[in-house]
Amino acid sequence: MNRILMIEVSPRGQDSASRAVAGTLATRLASLCPSAQFVRRDLASERLPHLDDVTLRAISTKDPAEAIRLKEAAYQSDRLTDELLASDLLVIATPMWNFGIPSALKAWIDLVVRPGRTFHYTDGGVVGLAKNKKAILVLASGGVFTEGPWRPWDFVEPYLRQILGFSGIEDVRCVRVEGMNIPDLAAGAVEKANKIVESLIL
Ligand SMILES: Cc1cc2nc3c(=O)[nH]c(=O)nc-3n(C[C@H](O)[C@H](O)[C@H](O)COP(=O)(O)O)c2cc1C
Repeated sequence: MNRILMIEVSPRGQDSASRAVAGTLATRLASLCPSAQFVRRDLASERLPHLDDVTLRAISTKDPAEAIRLKEAAYQSDRLTDELLASDLLVIATPMWNFGIPSALKAWIDLVVRPGRTFHYTDGGVVGLAKNKKAILVLASGGVFTEGPWRPWDFVEPYLRQILGFSGIEDVRCVRVEGMNIPDLAAGAVEKANKIVESLIL
């Protein structure tokens, strides 16, 4: 494990459950892979742009002259995609918002899931190009989604697994920090997730 890319999304700083568990995970990963380089991307402090017309053209044109002309507009997408492709392990720590991912994380996904870079269409279907990587998801939510009546409302874990798989990242593990809005569960949710993370083996 040479390079670990850690994406953190919650804007709630010290109060964030996903960040608290991601911090424990970072400590665990540092002890498991002492020589690994950590790259941290904080999507709460770094406001990534949504895709606009010029960026879309810049990252999808097949005309080399246009690609050069629009190089600046492709800069963010190129930089983030290179960063993902250079990593061996991707960690995404995010809250559930309105049953899905926050738009800041969707903006990152829109910038890195790119034809020709992270996936490729072939006659046999789509081939993911972000190969030989693992991912760990740290997902915080107010409710409980791994069991019970709210399970079908979870558009975080299924979506992230699907989009990562589409890009070639099939080895995905998930740590849930559930019930943060349910007082009886909230008290122990971070501790429970920390315990899972502390005994993690890659
Ligand atoms: C804007 C917003 C939307 C939320 N939507 C949901 C939701 O749909 N389902 C849920 O279970 N919790 C929801 N929550 C609760 C958060 O998922 C919960 O507080 C979680 O701990 C947030 O992660 P964080 O502590 O890392 O910030 C929402 C919280 C906010 C602020």
